[in-house]
Formats: sequence, structure tokens, C-alpha cells
Amino acid sequence: MTIFAKIIGTGGYLPPRIVSNDDLALELAQKGIETSDQWIVERTGIHQRHLADPGVRTSHLATHAARQALEDAGIAAQDLDLIVVATSTPDYVFPSTACLVQAELGNKGAAAYDVQAVCSGFVYALTTADAMIKAGRARNALVIGAEVFSSILDWNDRSTCVLFGDGAGAVVLQASDEPGILAAQLNADGSQMGILCAAGNVSHGQVVGDPFLRMDGQAVFKLAVTSLAASAHQVCEQAGIALSDITWLVPHQANVRIINFLGRKLGIPSEKVVITVDQHANTSAASVPLALNAARRDGRIRAGDLALLQGVGGGFTWGSVLVRC
Ligand SMILES: CC(C)(COP(=O)(O)OP(=O)(O)OC[C@H]1O[C@@H](n2cnc3c(N)ncnc32)[C@H](O)[C@@H]1OP(=O)(O)O)[C@@H](O)C(=O)NCCC(=O)NCCS
Repeated sequence: MTIFAKIIGTGGYLPPRIVSNDDLALELAQKGIETSDQWIVERTGIHQRHLADPGVRTSHLATHAARQALEDAGIAAQDLDLIVVATSTPDYVFPSTACLVQAELGNKGAAAYDVQAVCSGFVYALTTADAMIKAGRARNALVIGAEVFSSILDWNDRSTCVLFGDGAGAVVLQASDEPGILAAQLNADGSQMGILCAAGNVSHGQVVGDPFLRMDGQAVFKLAVTSLAASAHQVCEQAGIALSDITWLVPHQANVRIINFLGRKLGIPSEKVVITVDQHANTSAASVPLALNAARRDGRIRAGDLALLQGVGGGFTWGSVLVRC
């Protein structure tokens, strides 16, 4: 009998502090940096972002989202045998943020580890958990994408700081004989690291290199559209499904223009595309599970729908997961 990994619960959490484009423009103006709501909306579709207060860490956001997903799934934390957290902004060098979440949830004994694939992190983490369930190595898996991305932004660089936000999204996967995740495919091209990176580290007690996110926006834009389009075709081919059969496209939420280009390239009408970047900005690994959770909870995504989840980001990394909800 084929074992599938089925999503049986979703959750999301956004820190309560909402910063509108106008708020941000005012804050930057005090430092002599010019931006505007109009520029940000025209180039990105972003209207606002949620930002964590100082001291709030990725594990805190992740735990909130996890609790909601567990409640939705109707299972207890102790029933989990796998916890995977996708993040580029872990609380510590170690232990992993997954271990911190495990302790917060009160689970003992589950395998727990982090996945680092930046904005593709959730899709990578979901694929890993799917493979563990299919192989019989886990039955109940918690997969989280969580970031305090504001902690790696250079708040004096207007070309990047306006684009991102903080948050966490989570799903609970369970082994099932009913179809859940149908196909997945992941890719990376490390030779493109220079177009999007935070090339710093802590070593010998000091920050070495540049601790802030740097990006060639136009190069990322082009590569994101072409790689996601190719990945969508590949994952559908793998599952023997036509693109037109997809009920919902849930792409990484970086920029409305990237999402619109992608939708047009794939021939997927805008009514079938979930967009949250306008409200959340780019929350990196949290963006896809936050969008999935929002669309499930507002009744757009229903049981039986076919959703194409897609991530793309630093590394350069990208990938897709096709899931029967
Ligand atoms: C970042 C992005 C919005 C910039 O849009 P763009 O149309 O490429 O804009 P450019 O970088 O060419 O900059 C155009 C001008 O706007 C200025 N500008 C940049 N940020 C600005 C801001 N926040 N406010 C006002 N002006 C800004 C630039 O300095 C430049 O001015 P100049 O023409 O006088 O030199 C766009 O490239 C993008 O979305 N790329 C993808 C980024 C992304 O999603 N990354 C994450 C993927 S995981």
C-alpha cells in the first residue's frame, strides 16, 4: 500500500506590530532615507509588514504557529515524531530552532532539526518530512517555516529593508493511505549565491563578514520567474497532472509582480493564485505556510483541492510541492 503524507492541520502567527509603508517611510525619513508608499506598492505590491519586537525570537513565532496547527490537526504535541523548522534566522548557532520549539511544546523524543534553504526553506522542509513519512520513519510530522527576518536587514538600505517581514506558518503531516503530497522537486544553484545572501557569521566571538542581507533585485526577479515556471512544469509532469488541474497556486510571497509574471507564464488565472505579500511582505521561509494557512482559514482552499506550493530564494534555491489538500 502506498503511504502518503497528508496535511491534517495548518497554523500561522504574525507578531502584532504592524508597520505600514507610510510608517516605514516616516521612520526612514528621520535618517535621511527617502522612500514612499507609492514606490513600494508599485514595485512590490506590499502595503504593510508585521515586525517582531526586540527580544522576540524565531522559536517564539514558530511555537505559536505550531500550537495552532496542532489544534487544527487535533493531535497532541507528544504524538509528533518529527519536527522540522525551516529558517535562516535561527535563535542560536545551536541547538536548532526545532529543538527549542520541541521543548516549548513539551514533546520529548521526536527527531528535530532545522532546514536552511532561505525563502525555499518551507518547500525543502516539507519535502524532507514527506520523504521521512513515505519511508516509514515518521507518522506525525510538524513542519514550520519561521523567521525574524528583520534581524538580518540593513535598515539603512532602502532597496531591501522595505521588502521583508516577520512571521511563522506551520503544517502537521500525517501518514495516510489517502493522497496528500503527490510530488515534489527541489533545486539549487550555489554559483548564484552572490545575488542574494547574508554573508556573515559569528566566529571567535566576533561577527565576521557582512551580517546583513544583500540582494541584486533585478537578477533575483528574473531567476525567480524562470526557475519557478520550470519547476511547476516538472512537478506536474512527475505527478501526471496538467497545470490546468491545479486549484490553487501558493507561491513564495516575495513580490506581487513576480507572482503575476509567474501566473501568466503558467497560464494560471489570478483568481487561482493566493497572495498575502501585500499584508505580510516577504517573510522568507514563513511565506508559503502563512499563505496556505490564510487561504485555508478563509475558506478558499478546501479539502480535495490541488495546491501547488512553490519556494524560491537565496542559495540560489527553488522547488515545488504538489499537494492534494
Ligand atoms: C527590489 C525591486 C523591488 C526593485 O525594483 P526595480 O524596479 O528593480 O528597481 P531598481 O533596483 O532598478 O531601482 C530603481 C530606482 O529605485 C530606487 N529605489 C530602490 N529602493 C527604493 C525604495 N525603497 N524607495 C524608493 N526608491 C527606491 C533605486 O535607488 C533606483 O533609483 P535610481 O534609478 O535613481 O538609481 C525588484 O527588483 C524586485 O522585487 N526584485 C526581486 C526581489 C525579491 O523578491 N527578493 C526576494 C526573493 S526571495
